[in-house]
Amino acid sequence: MCATTQRVLSGVQPSGQKHLGNYFGAIRQHIALQDEFPGECFYFIADYHALTTVHDPAGLRESVQELARTYLALGLDPSKALLFRQSDIPEVTELAWLLATVTGMGLLERAHAYKDKVAQGLPASVGLFSYPVLMAADILIYQSTLVPVGKDQVQHVEMAQDMATHFNQTYAPKALVLRRPEFRLAATPYVAGVDGRKMSSSYGNVIPLFEAGKPLRRRIGSIVTDSTPLGQPLNPERCNVFALLRLFLEGPELDELAAWYRAGQREGAPFGYGHAKQLLVERIETHFASARERRAELIEHPERVEEVLKRSAERARREAQQTLLRCKQACGLL
Ligand code: ADP
Ligand code: TRP
Repeated sequence: MCATTQRVLSGVQPSGQKHLGNYFGAIRQHIALQDEFPGECFYFIADYHALTTVHDPAGLRESVQELARTYLALGLDPSKALLFRQSDIPEVTELAWLLATVTGMGLLERAHAYKDKVAQGLPASVGLFSYPVLMAADILIYQSTLVPVGKDQVQHVEMAQDMATHFNQTYAPKALVLRRPEFRLAATPYVAGVDGRKMSSSYGNVIPLFEAGKPLRRRIGSIVTDSTPLGQPLNPERCNVFALLRLFLEGPELDELAAWYRAGQREGAPFGYGHAKQLLVERIETHFASARERRAELIEHPERVEEVLKRSAERARREAQQTLLRCKQACGLL
């Protein structure tokens, strides 16, 4: 590839239905980059990584499909950005091995994801331990320059930077075989769930992206608030519902909402958490209305999803094969 080509790359783990945290923290930014970024965008579904936690073949297959549908429904345009399955590029596992041979145990032992699991007393597989090596291979094999990620993944990108440097120093001190990537944090790095903790599928506190109608109303109804009576002043800065509404409103609309909170009144009538929740339901339904329709259509036409994944993988694989070839040559394998 041309040394000046700029390339965005990110991977997303397939895991059930995506939620507002995933959207505002990651997916929205990925999709915006297809128009904003002056280079190529490569996105992939990290199914190899998912195997470190998911051992349910049918569930994994469905999660991969759902994630692909989610990106396409939310506006990923296959003519502008690639969307492929990690496992359709087997070269990444080969590069991961090459990287593992120049990666110190100490580097991986410092990885938060692994340390957290062990601290919780959960069984950790070799796959989980070497997760950051596979992730580095994902990034480096496409000579990616920019990796948009959430805060939790920054350490992994830094490890990929270290591995690129080690590999180059060890095998090709004069040639730049692997490029050093940079990370970029999303503008909305933190979305709280219905219980006020970080929204996460592992806490069971999520608001799924495509929920609507009664189930959505019920879920929004379950957002934890304090027991201030209707009509009394409320503090918007300490309200989970307001924090979520902030994702959908800006400027004067947001100021107006904050004023209703502080007054406990809207246009002379009492205003309380129930009204704020109703507003949130409406905003979520409207914001994702067209995406919901597109997703429903893709459920009817799985072949369209498959076609995108296949074509994208063909293109990404060509890139991966070139990098792997150069790495193998550098190591003395060819
Ligand atoms: P979960 O915690 O639900 O399993 P993941 O860890 O799979 O979610 O998240 C994938 C990406 O989505 C993360 O790297 C991060 O960028 C984003 N993300 C997830 N939850 C949140 C959140 N609550 N707030 C902001 N971003 C989030
Ligand atoms: N580990 C990332 C996550 O759980 C997913 C991922 C795998 C990734 N490979 C990547 C992200 C490469 C960015 C770049 O969210």
